[in-house]
Amino acid sequence: MNYRFCPSILSADFNRLGDQMRILQESGIEIVHIDVMDGIFVPSISFGMPVIRSIRKESSLFFDVHLMIQEPERYIQEFVSCGADSITVHQEACRDLAGTIRKIKEANVKAGVSVKPETPVKSILPVLPEVDMVLIMTVQPGFGGQKYLPECTEKIREVRALIRENGYHADVQVDGGINDSTLRTVVEAGANYLVAGSYLFGEDLQGNVRRAQDKLQEIRKIDNI
Ligand code: DX5
Ligand code: ZN
Repeated sequence: MNYRFCPSILSADFNRLGDQMRILQESGIEIVHIDVMDGIFVPSISFGMPVIRSIRKESSLFFDVHLMIQEPERYIQEFVSCGADSITVHQEACRDLAGTIRKIKEANVKAGVSVKPETPVKSILPVLPEVDMVLIMTVQPGFGGQKYLPECTEKIREVRALIRENGYHADVQVDGGINDSTLRTVVEAGANYLVAGSYLFGEDLQGNVRRAQDKLQEIRKIDNI
């Protein structure tokens, strides 16, 4: 299985976004997590297509776009056109989840489905065979820098078991509150794509990424995962 950090640029310094994208790439990061918020599905508003289009010009990183927007089916093609490599939608935000996943796949990008902390894993069972990624939110979506919700650990375990037992191919991503003290919990529970915002961005992005990658390696070695 591939284990990857997916740095969330929501915590970036937008005055130096291009520089930080370069630093991530030079640090061996392959996937960048891009949080789009509409102020309706979540209380906050982040950024949208123009920002993605700009950073796409100079970056060959994989753009993992997390849509925290109501009825995301309205915008799939636009996000693909501005550079998304994968699009994740919320189960709670879609009128027709299966149709939305189909639309994403027809646009030739990877498709992910996400659930908020209170949404049960069983609500995404119908699309589980189709999706490339399941995103288990480990905080309430909307803001960076929140505390990990321990009640979500069981959901990571549950979705990983379902994928394994049925031979599905989806990666399991976690998002929210990932840091030195929660990394082991989520990896042991079965997550392999680790979104991290405030854990990585800050004064020493390069150093933080290096330390986080070392920590992940250490956990995998000790736990033999
Ligand atoms: C929250 C976003 C996250 C956020 C994570 O709604 O989906 O991607 O950036 O931030 P941290 O890692 O600081 O909890
Ligand atoms: Zn996110």
